[in-house]
Amino acid sequence: MNYNQAEELLKQYNQEQLLKYYDELSPEQKNSLLRQIEEIDFELLKFAKEGGAEGEKGVITPLEDAVSIENIKANQEKYTKIGVDAIQHGKVAALLLAGGMGTRLGSDKPKGMYNIGKTKDIYIFEMLIRNLLDVVHQTGAWIPLYIMTSEKNNEDTVRFFEEKDYFGYDKDYVDFFVQEMAPAASYDGKIYLEEKDRISTSPNGNGGWFISFVRSGLCEKAKKAGVEYINIFAVDNVCQRMADPCFVGATIDGGYCSAAKVVSKASPEEKVGVLCLEDGRPSIVEYYELTEEMRYEKRKNGELAYKYGVILNYLFRIKDLEKNQEENMAIHVVEKKIPYLDENGNKVTPESENGYKFETLVLDMIHMMDNCLAYEVEREKEFAPIKNKTGVDSVESAQKLLEYNGVVL
Ligand code: UTP
Repeated sequence: MNYNQAEELLKQYNQEQLLKYYDELSPEQKNSLLRQIEEIDFELLKFAKEGGAEGEKGVITPLEDAVSIENIKANQEKYTKIGVDAIQHGKVAALLLAGGMGTRLGSDKPKGMYNIGKTKDIYIFEMLIRNLLDVVHQTGAWIPLYIMTSEKNNEDTVRFFEEKDYFGYDKDYVDFFVQEMAPAASYDGKIYLEEKDRISTSPNGNGGWFISFVRSGLCEKAKKAGVEYINIFAVDNVCQRMADPCFVGATIDGGYCSAAKVVSKASPEEKVGVLCLEDGRPSIVEYYELTEEMRYEKRKNGELAYKYGVILNYLFRIKDLEKNQEENMAIHVVEKKIPYLDENGNKVTPESENGYKFETLVLDMIHMMDNCLAYEVEREKEFAPIKNKTGVDSVESAQKLLEYNGVVL
């Protein structure tokens, strides 16, 4: 794309500000900027005005069946045996979503590099690898681990794993891939410049994982190696168990094509997404999408009707993901702090939210599945997300829970 074509295209979308500093740039910078302009998905910007996918839900009803903690206890041996067998036959892989910016934690390094130790160094990535190693030791089989990064944190992440010798994991079973980016815009839909030659972009949300996984060639590699199920998990829950044999076994035993680890909501008001049915298909609704009535609705046995909160730990059968690949994922518009160049070309790092990012979310993939098993886990054992430095879902609260589970920090 040359300058005139870029100018023409930007005019069409009212984004001429992106060429404001063009004349000041070196030839390489000019080319780089034109390349970035060519790659922008301008269609996303309409969501800045219209809003995202929120509020477009179908008819929501409670989920009828789930495997409760009691149920799992009663069948633990059977489920575990099935899961161990699947893992030993190489049918299960794990995929770490680590492309996020972790802005709430406020570290300029990838979130997984955050040190949560008290008397020694223990990094978030290290805790996750330890949890996965437990399954390697239990089954005697290495579990392929795919790590999704973004162009903002890929280099740091890969270098860190190299430096730390993969925390004892066999590096032949670890692959990294980079997710795609989306433009970041002001509240009136103008794309920001982050540098004079750089458009402001941010990772396109954790729902982009499957497309990026396929494009990277790793999905093909996994399938060739015999992988049938893939366990998606977030970087910030340091207590979670992944490739959990009992979870895998319960999913296979019930013939499910997807499954979600869930916790019983602490209270009707708890701000977690819940697994339910939408127009008869599995779906996850955010807490603000439930009406007041639904939030307090009870089942006959006195339990909350919308009881199961998701913890971003999902199992998908790959062949079912492939069936739905062409389906367009909903776009969520998220308010964020976006560094930008001001009127005078000075870089500003805002203290509060100043615009929108456009994201797709992995939770929307559940609705594309024919069924989804809700698999209940104990919150005290498996749910310690680190979103903030202090307070709710913080380093402090996660440290407490790790210590409660016997981890020396
Ligand atoms: P969060 O919703 O907590 O987002 O991600 P975040 O970007 O990490 O953090 P904040 O909101 O800026 O503080 C949940 C999980 O999804 C991953 C994150 O790395 C985390 O594991 N994620 C999020 C991606 O992999 N890519 C994305 O584009 C966004």
